[in-house]
Amino acid sequence: MLDGKRILLIIGGGVAAYKSLDLARRLMERGAAVRGVLTPAGQQFITPMSVASLTGDECYTDLFSLKDEAEMGHIRLSREADLVVIAPATADLMAKMAHGLANDLASTILLATDKQVLIAPAMNAEMWAHKATQRNIETLKRDGILMVGPGDGMLACGEVGPGRLAEVPDMVAAIEGYFAGGNRPLMGKHIVVTAGPTHEPIDPVRYIANRSSGKQGFAIAGALAALGGEVTLVSGPVSQTTPPGVARVDVETALEMDAAVKAALPADAAVCVAAVADWRIKAGSNGEKLKKSKDGIPALNLCENPDILKGLSAMKEGRPALVVGFAAETEQVIEHATAKRKRKGCDMIVANDVSHTTGIMGGDSNQVHVITETGVESWPTMSKDDVATALAKTIADALTK
Ligand SMILES: Cc1cc2nc3c(=O)[nH]c(=O)nc-3n(C[C@H](O)[C@H](O)[C@H](O)COP(=O)(O)O)c2cc1C
Repeated sequence: MLDGKRILLIIGGGVAAYKSLDLARRLMERGAAVRGVLTPAGQQFITPMSVASLTGDECYTDLFSLKDEAEMGHIRLSREADLVVIAPATADLMAKMAHGLANDLASTILLATDKQVLIAPAMNAEMWAHKATQRNIETLKRDGILMVGPGDGMLACGEVGPGRLAEVPDMVAAIEGYFAGGNRPLMGKHIVVTAGPTHEPIDPVRYIANRSSGKQGFAIAGALAALGGEVTLVSGPVSQTTPPGVARVDVETALEMDAAVKAALPADAAVCVAAVADWRIKAGSNGEKLKKSKDGIPALNLCENPDILKGLSAMKEGRPALVVGFAAETEQVIEHATAKRKRKGCDMIVANDVSHTTGIMGGDSNQVHVITETGVESWPTMSKDDVATALAKTIADALTK
C-alpha cells in the first residue's frame, strides 16, 4: 500500500501519456498523493486539465511560471515528493537526464531532485534500440535511476518490438516495490532468464522438441521480479502465463533464443533454464514438407546449435556478473553437473534428475543441487515455486554481497 506517499508523476510526450492518467488513479486508490508535471510535448497528448482533475492537485507545466516560481516551484516540487516517477519516459527526457540538461520544468526538477527517480520508458522500437538511447539507459542505471519496462509488443506506431510502456499494474508493482524497500534486493538489477524448450524445424510442419514445460524457468523469472529485479524472460514455445512484472520475449529456435538473449544484454545476471536443443537440422527442406518416397527414409543431417550458456560465461566484455546454468541429468547428477559447470565456465549450476521416474520434467516439484566453485548444496524436494523463491534469494545474495 502507498498510504501517505507523495509521488511526483512527470508525463512525457508520447502516445502512451494517456496511460499515466490510469496510473495516477491506481496510485491514488492505494493511498498515494499524486502531483502531475506535464511536458510541453506531453500536452500534445493529454491536457493539464485532465491531470489536475484526476489528481485533485494543480498540474505543473511551466518552468517560467510567475506564480509557481515566486516560491522556486521547480525546487519545491522536486523536494515535496517521496518518489519521482516518469511515465512515459521519452527518449528525449532520458537523454536530458543522462546529460544533466535542465531547459524545461521536467528536466530541471529531475536535476534538482534529491529523491529516487523511477522511469517507465515508452517509444518506437528503433528509438529504443538506438545506440544513443541504450547509452543513456546505461548512464541512468549507473546513476541509480530505477526502471520498469519497457515491454515488448504492438507499439502505437504500428510496429512490433520493445518500447511499449510497462502495463499499469507493473508500474504500480515497481512503485510499491520501491517503498517496500528491504524486501526488494534486486531493485535496479537486470536479469535475463531463458525458459522452455526450443523447436528446431525439420520442415514447415515438423520439428524436433523436448519435454521442457517452462514451468521452472517461469517460476524463477517471477520470483526474481518479486524481489524487485527487472527481468527479461526469453521463452521457447510454452503455454505458461507470464509472471507479473516480467518482460517476455517469445522465440522458437535455439538460434532465435541466442539472438534474443544477446539483444537483452547488458544484464547483471543470466539464468539459463531453457532446455535448448543441442542440434538443429543442417539443411532445411527448401520450405517444402518432406514426402514419403520409394528412395527410402530421409536422413536428418544435424549441426550444432550455439551454446548460449557457454557463450554468456565466456564473454570478454560485458559478461553478466553472475551466470547460472541448469543441468538436466539422468544419472550421476552431481558428478555430471559439476563437470558441466567447469566446461561451460558459469558461476552456478542448478542440477536436477530428469529421468522419467522422477516426474520432474513437466511436473510441479523439483529436487535440485546447487553447484558452485565452492561446493554442492542439495535442497530437499520442493514445489517448483519454492525452488524458484529459494534460488531467487540465492541469486540476490550473490549479486548484492
Ligand atoms: C505522434 C507522436 C508520438 C510520439 N511518441 C513518442 C514516444 O512514444 N516516445 C518518445 O520517446 N517520443 C515520442 N515522440 C517524440 C516526442 O514527443 C519528442 O521527442 C518530444 O520532444 C519529447 O518531449 P518531452 O521529452 O519533453 O516530453 C512522439 C512524437 C509524436 C509526434
